Amino acid sequence: MTFNPKIELHLHLEGAAPPDFIRRLGGEKRVALDGIFDLDGSYKYKDFQGFLNVYEAATKVLETPEDFARLTQAVLEQSRDQGVIYTEVFLSPDFCGGRDLGAWHEYLAAIQEGANSVQGIEMRGIITCIRHFGPDKARETARCAAETAGRFITGFGMGGNETLGKAADFGWAFDCAAEAGLGLTSHAGEFGGPESVRDTLDHLNVTRIGHGVRSIEDAALVRRLVEEQITLEVCPGSNVVLGVYKNFAVHPIEKLMSDGVNVTVSTDDPPFFHTSMRDEYDALQHNFGWGEDHFRALNQTAARAAFCDDETRAALL
Ligand code: ADE
Ligand code: ZN
Repeated sequence: MTFNPKIELHLHLEGAAPPDFIRRLGGEKRVALDGIFDLDGSYKYKDFQGFLNVYEAATKVLETPEDFARLTQAVLEQSRDQGVIYTEVFLSPDFCGGRDLGAWHEYLAAIQEGANSVQGIEMRGIITCIRHFGPDKARETARCAAETAGRFITGFGMGGNETLGKAADFGWAFDCAAEAGLGLTSHAGEFGGPESVRDTLDHLNVTRIGHGVRSIEDAALVRRLVEEQITLEVCPGSNVVLGVYKNFAVHPIEKLMSDGVNVTVSTDDPPFFHTSMRDEYDALQHNFGWGEDHFRALNQTAARAAFCDDETRAALL
């Protein structure tokens, strides 16, 4: 019996695409998808770089605004059926018209239409730049984000390979998004160590960190996270499948929480990691004996850190 209702703050739209959805779309469009699926039909990759490659290859079939409307609907239905009532979804203008502002407006309208078609779950969009695409593209992405900031687009973030470049290279993009009133988050402390989290906090003014789990390797940094009330979007299943931790039992989420860090739980890219929100909660219960009190605390933390208006937040608390 899983805890409901759930709040999820870290979910990539393309990364949540079920393999069947991508295969079907590829068939309809006659786009070759060689080498990205395993014999059992799931996504196939060996390591983090392989995951990023397969992820980007799968997005090739997502061509039109209509494709993104269909994907958004499928993803939100999937989340709603896991007991999620509020979700923040990373949206990438890189995959929606190549960061062209005019095209981005069309893709975004379609994504919003897809979101409105699903009852029982509320979505907000976090526009995300991709670190390994470089700072110039991040600036263009930030302009798309600033242009469409509002009730639906409420955040700006950065994913991709955090071991490349310095956080300061992306300062302009994050400042531009902040000026437009967007909440800020960035992936760090997943494949980069504590120094990557510190670099992000020093230069990007984020209130949340995507993953951030490797902060546990530096006690002073953990204290800083607590003092500055930074919220971590922890994705334990993702970390285990990508090899950041050997298994769930040695994942630092329990220690981070007991050290007083604001911890939330998300799935990241659920079909890539063979997970779901229910699976994550089940694993936390099984490995750490977490029950109602822990899960209520996770969701209260998520509600407080959510990039939403006060009325929406009040309904979640
Ligand atoms: N993009 C999608 N999933 C990601 C992850 N786990 N780390 C970095 N970038 C990502
Ligand atoms: Zn992520």
